[in-house]
Amino acid sequence: MTDEDAAADEATARRMWNDAADAFNEFVETGLDYYRTDVHGPALLEACGDVRGQRVLDLGCGQGWFSRQLATAGGQVTGIDWSTGMIEHARRIEEARHFQAQRDMPGGVTYDLLDATELAARFEPGTFDLVTACMSLMDMPRPRAVLAAAARLAPRIVFSIPNPVTDAPHRVWKRDAAGHKLALEIDRYFETTSGVMQWDMKRLVHHFATVQYRYTLEQWSQMLESAGLMIARLREPRPSEAMIATRPELGDAARLPYFLIIDARVSA
Ligand SMILES: C[S@@+](CC[C@H](N)C(=O)[O-])C[C@H]1O[C@@H](n2cnc3c(N)ncnc32)[C@H](O)[C@@H]1O
Repeated sequence: MTDEDAAADEATARRMWNDAADAFNEFVETGLDYYRTDVHGPALLEACGDVRGQRVLDLGCGQGWFSRQLATAGGQVTGIDWSTGMIEHARRIEEARHFQAQRDMPGGVTYDLLDATELAARFEPGTFDLVTACMSLMDMPRPRAVLAAAARLAPRIVFSIPNPVTDAPHRVWKRDAAGHKLALEIDRYFETTSGVMQWDMKRLVHHFATVQYRYTLEQWSQMLESAGLMIARLREPRPSEAMIATRPELGDAARLPYFLIIDARVSA
């Protein structure tokens, strides 16, 4: 998909994220997004390394879950998102933490309403030490432009996305007669397009829908290359045996790579 194609449905994507803000916030705050709390969230934080005292820009921060993780780890964080609903939740949660004196963050966090494609107009080059994006770049209509802008703001970007290998357009668990999962059937890997993702998992109290974009592993690598970024490390986080013993629902993510973390550096 070209940036021009993607930009065509940009307004729809933004509206859908805005409409989804309350339900998404509920999903995160109730702890029902256990892949985030137990698997890819901690792995992304670990991939960021020691953020104490670092100026961090968190792209597509949503209601601020990962921005707060970074601030708790000592980062001076700016979270940006293009959804007013998301930013309102992020600010409300932050204010409540101040009010209740529950602020266990050595760092700090502020939130800005901003489309990530407008980074260059808002921030001076070199403003940050690190750019992060927790499960948000694949939700952005123009990740290539965002990565290029981010590479001018900081020497390093660390982000998580659904692993393109398993997050294919055709993705069906084959089951035996008793309903046990035998194998994940995956097809149409090289099909890249935007689509509406239905957030209709049983554990969600309120269902919602958002626009998501699909790129192959090679396309992510090419986007980074064209932004002048080099992949320093890749991680495919998965739950440990102990985690699965406590929460068996995580088991699938130990069989197949569900998540991908990329640590990329601006090339010299
Ligand atoms: C799956 S949510 C992840 C939110 C947050 N990072 C987290 O981990 O909870 C994706 C977020 O990306 C935001 N987003 C998508 N496109 C954006 C853009 N062009 N600029 C800023 N935010 C964007 C959406 O509004 C949404 O809040």
